[in-house]
Amino acid sequence: MQVAVERASVTALRTPMVVLGLLEGVTAPTGALGAVDQALGGLVSRLIASGEVRGELGRASVIHNQNPGGQLGAERVLVVGLGPREELDLEAVRVASGTAARQALDLRLDSFATVVHGAGAGGLDPAEAARALVEAAQLALYRYTEFKSSPQPGNVERMVIVEQDAERAAALEPVVRGATVTAEAVNRTRELSDGPPNLVTPTYLGEQAQALADRYGLECRVYGKQDLERMGMNAILAVNAGSARPPVLVDIRYKGPNARKTLAYVGKGITFDSGGISIKPAEMMHYMRHDMSGAAAVLGFIQVAAEKRLPLNVIGIFAATENMPSGSAYKPGDIIKTYSGKTVEITNTDAEGRVILSDALAYAAEQNPDLIIDIATLTGACSIALGDYATGMMTNDDRVAALLEQAGVASGELVWRMPLWKVYFKQMDSTLADMKNAAHGRRGGMLTAAQFLLQFVGGKPWVHLDIAPTAYTDEQQKYIPPYQPRYGATGVGVRLLEQFAERWMRE
Ligand code: BES
Ligand code: ZN
Ligand code: ZN
Repeated sequence: MQVAVERASVTALRTPMVVLGLLEGVTAPTGALGAVDQALGGLVSRLIASGEVRGELGRASVIHNQNPGGQLGAERVLVVGLGPREELDLEAVRVASGTAARQALDLRLDSFATVVHGAGAGGLDPAEAARALVEAAQLALYRYTEFKSSPQPGNVERMVIVEQDAERAAALEPVVRGATVTAEAVNRTRELSDGPPNLVTPTYLGEQAQALADRYGLECRVYGKQDLERMGMNAILAVNAGSARPPVLVDIRYKGPNARKTLAYVGKGITFDSGGISIKPAEMMHYMRHDMSGAAAVLGFIQVAAEKRLPLNVIGIFAATENMPSGSAYKPGDIIKTYSGKTVEITNTDAEGRVILSDALAYAAEQNPDLIIDIATLTGACSIALGDYATGMMTNDDRVAALLEQAGVASGELVWRMPLWKVYFKQMDSTLADMKNAAHGRRGGMLTAAQFLLQFVGGKPWVHLDIAPTAYTDEQQKYIPPYQPRYGATGVGVRLLEQFAERWMRE
């Protein structure tokens, strides 16, 4: 979708639909909605008075203009609820904006216009509100239609942001461009995550990394199976042993102008997690195509950093393989000597994410970054603890934790810190090797997994993000998941990292 800023009054603009926000409880609209109400002879106020048009967050009311081009240029007015004034925040703007964009799609409009919600009477920062508006509209319109053979309804092609004031309109331009870059990267991440595992294979992910590197002139190494054998990446190879498809380890590097800091962003790239010999139940197993969402987020964030030329260095790293059962598969009881030299006794082949991350994290630590952040659909236990709306965060760095929490609120990709206490490592004790890969007992499963990962980061500042709850969703939210299908990838970990990087770079 193309997003344009137009200097015009909301009433004069000719458009198939103009979108205006309404705070809950407002009976006499002012500002832009007030002007539209007047142009329609008080129709909006009458509909508010009758209770038909209401300001509940995400509620949408379409009003057809009987005389477009008369007092009011628009053919339709969409009044979208912003919720109560005291609760108005950027997330409310995103929900309202996503609702409006989907409404435009439902109405089969090829374009619509909108004001920036929340910036006037709402009191939000205009640039932040516009960023949220533009990101959410584009996120809401994402669809994965690659394998649909019947024709799909055409997409909304153009969104116009109306702003009468010349200075404010000019200030909106770079915000719109930046938000579009981010939304495109998130949608790209979703596409990789939604893609079926017979298409999105480890080799395919390696090719996508290489293509991204070529596009932006980035350094990129895609290590193949023989490289991994030569290097002693035995943990990645062990998980790969049951698969007919070879693994990859990707190292893609973005170097920012005047960068003072280097971030290693490390993703779990299991392109399909059957559980292996410790096989998963058949029900919902197809969801495990999303088990590479961490790797997809790494590529999405590199795309944002490179396109926006962010002033930091990013080393994007991910290990990708399937986790499959077969005669050659790794087994419970196997002992692996990982790349770091530490040995791991496999007690459950379904705890494979941490196994491949053990090699990827040790490799990341070797590159000497200032900070390592890993992102992985790691444990069902994280979903049990946090439900569907937060990413689990475990870290040895309090300052970074605070910045990530702020980034979570700012982006709407919420993170919640969980403890990284050594006592949980007890459950990983092995009589035969340095540690087991799966804890004794299921209790605290997210925390024991983090303790396992901690063994491989070489004492570096490090954050573990468990996105098992947030990587995909089967609930229709207002700008996630995609419009169609109603179930799918969220693209979590791109907007969060961008907001984090903006804060971390400044420190
Ligand atoms: N990929 C799964 C975790 C997962 C589960 C992500 C559900 C998203 C939704 C991971 O590899 C896994 O199977 N973890 C096991 C670990 C256990 C065997 C210690 C789990 O969480 O049950
Ligand atoms: Zn698993
Ligand atoms: Zn997994």
